[in-house]
Amino acid sequence: MGFIDGIKAKAKANLQTIVLPETKDIRTYQAAAKVLKEGTANIVLIGSPREIAQESQGIDLTGITCIDPATSERTAYYIQQLVELRKNKGMTEEQARELLLNNTLYFGVMMVKCGDANGMVAGASHSTADVLRPSLQILKTKPGAKLVSSFFIMVVPDCTLGDNGTFLFTDCGLEQNPDAQRLASIAISAAESFKTIVGGEARVAMLSHSSKGSAKHPDVDKVVEATRMAKELAPDVAIDGELQLDAAIVESIGASKAPGSPVAGRANVLVFPDLDSGNIGYKLVERLAKAQAYGPITQGIAAPVNDLSRGCSVDDIVGVVAITAVQAACTR
Ligand SMILES: CC(C)(COP(=O)(O)OP(=O)(O)OC[C@H]1O[C@@H](n2cnc3c(N)ncnc32)[C@H](O)[C@@H]1OP(=O)(O)O)[C@@H](O)C(=O)NCCC(=O)NCCS
Repeated sequence: MGFIDGIKAKAKANLQTIVLPETKDIRTYQAAAKVLKEGTANIVLIGSPREIAQESQGIDLTGITCIDPATSERTAYYIQQLVELRKNKGMTEEQARELLLNNTLYFGVMMVKCGDANGMVAGASHSTADVLRPSLQILKTKPGAKLVSSFFIMVVPDCTLGDNGTFLFTDCGLEQNPDAQRLASIAISAAESFKTIVGGEARVAMLSHSSKGSAKHPDVDKVVEATRMAKELAPDVAIDGELQLDAAIVESIGASKAPGSPVAGRANVLVFPDLDSGNIGYKLVERLAKAQAYGPITQGIAAPVNDLSRGCSVDDIVGVVAITAVQAACTR
């Protein structure tokens, strides 16, 4: 079974409700109809009945819940809750009403916050920052996580490294330049994400241009310190570093550069030291090794909200909805 088919099977087994707030985009309706047909999640769309009827262009939405912020009986409660959550940032009732009536992303996140939905997927017609900002402001990090970060699941064809070619790469999309403490938190979140999404034991490599002291530089010191913190915070997780990429994933090189390491040569979770290396790294593997790259998927957030690429296909949305549903089932 392919990676996404496996995720869809997991999603079907524990049905969650996912919000798709981008109702000005035809792909949202096509994806919603497909999700419903495949039975991987319940879908909520946000918009006025007139707009939804106009934009969906006759796509059968039977079985999909449509919520209109202008008439929903929950809107007043969301306004009150949003004011409460953001009052220390100066949020007034008027501003909260304006946001919830005019920005479906904020409305969707408040549905998740207030327990009326389990997760949200957006980004087909909004930037990453626009999708993530409301969720970071309102949902916040989950207990124990220092920050929200992101990961990609990479499925490399004809590859026996990692978990038969499957790896989790992090953070390739969100946190610009984490310090040691934040890098440690990213590593621990990634180990959890691996268990949730891929299944099986995570073996976490803290990547660097140095293996076990082979180079000296403050950048290396950061990874060494992050490794120490991550091990201390999650003693049951197999984490090791600092490791070069080859020492992390190739058994013979791991054995020579980091003998006795529980991770070297067998890593399936690769923690990059910063966003530049992470973003460049996943794109290299995607383009040169022709890997499938699923993400960016958020982690460390109190309830799942995931971002789409603006060039996404309907199937991409359907896949991310299933991933979000599986994450939601594990956070409940
Ligand atoms: C995520 C991101 C959009 C937030 O940017 P922003 O809107 O300027 O955010 P701010 O720094 O004003 O933070 C907004 C809120 O989110 C919180 N926040 C920001 N980053 C966070 C993180 N990684 N984890 C948890 N909370 C975070 C802030 O604390 C703030 O909360 P507050 O308003 O309650 O104080 C920004 O980090 C970003 O653009 N990252 C890179 C994304 C990107 O371009 N990726 C490219 C490759 S795909």
